[in-house]
Amino acid sequence: MRVGVLTGGGDCPGLNAVIRAVVRKGVQEYGLEFVGFRDGWRGPLEGDTMPLDIQAVRGILPRGGTILGSSRTNPLKNAGGGGGRNGVERIKDNLAGLGVDALIAIGGEDTLGVATKLGEQGVPVVGVPKTIDNDLGATDYTFGFDTAVNIAMEAIDRLHTTAESHHRALIVEVMGRHAGWIALHAGLAGGANVILIPERPFDIERVCAYVQHRFQTRFAPIVVVAEGAHPVSEDLATAGEQLDSFGHVRLGGVGQLLAGEIEKRTGKEARCTVLGHIQRGGTPTAFDRVLATRFGVHAVQAVHDEAFGVMVALRGTDIVRVPLAEATSQLKLVPPQRYAEAEVFFG
Ligand code: F6P
Repeated sequence: MRVGVLTGGGDCPGLNAVIRAVVRKGVQEYGLEFVGFRDGWRGPLEGDTMPLDIQAVRGILPRGGTILGSSRTNPLKNAGGGGGRNGVERIKDNLAGLGVDALIAIGGEDTLGVATKLGEQGVPVVGVPKTIDNDLGATDYTFGFDTAVNIAMEAIDRLHTTAESHHRALIVEVMGRHAGWIALHAGLAGGANVILIPERPFDIERVCAYVQHRFQTRFAPIVVVAEGAHPVSEDLATAGEQLDSFGHVRLGGVGQLLAGEIEKRTGKEARCTVLGHIQRGGTPTAFDRVLATRFGVHAVQAVHDEAFGVMVALRGTDIVRVPLAEATSQLKLVPPQRYAEAEVFFG
């Protein structure tokens, strides 16, 4: 059996650990052969491959990024010069031409959404969930999240001390398009004084009241804001204009907006730090290496069992198989009661 592997969407620490586990177990235990597809769905769409054997995966466990490359190519939308054929047909033709019998797609909501559609059209595919945002509904955790939270927590720890020296408010903008998991966990772990998430539009007056309250101590306020958070009042909204091929707006700017409003309304100095892609780079934590490795092992097991159309998922401490369609049907947002747990520490 020849198995194609691809990594799509925003990269995250742990992708290489999945690839290594898939190849090591697949070759050593099942005698499978692998082919790497470059840059997400662009690889199978254009037939762009790279060798993927045990030698190719040596030494990659602690490395961030992905040796296969990634992209946000959407083959359901953009067939890119396929001579009239749609993206799904082109992928099917390329897989047949390359003698690829099955695919392992490692990705988030968008990449696995494409995998779901391909599965429905007869492509044997197994999905592996990945996203630093931790917002995939069918799994308790995705790898990459723990690393991102630790990076953000360390940044918050550092910002506390400089904020105190200068008696200023520091705003930390973290990733999180639809879900505020990174902001919530990093904010809790780092002792933030306000945490703002996309699920709960914020009232700027209330944020400023927390900031003022914190200034009454000998400490200085740290506000952690997810990039997708937005104010209740539309007058304050920032809007990105560029869309990617899955129709997502490129976010950014809410941290700066907050810094400006806080300065204006409190009279205190405020500065904004945008962590951005630092949260997605570098070596994965032990938790993410282990989770990614277990996902890889179970994904290749599913291929061996010919259990296609599924995604591997973490439920409690077990890895289970869930239908791909279920995996992408609902985003996992921060529930109000989880946010309420954090609100106790605001101000
Ligand atoms: O989906 C993961 C993610 O890191 C989001 O948190 C963020 O909004 C987005 O990717 C940024 O993507 P890009 O790689 O296009 O900057």
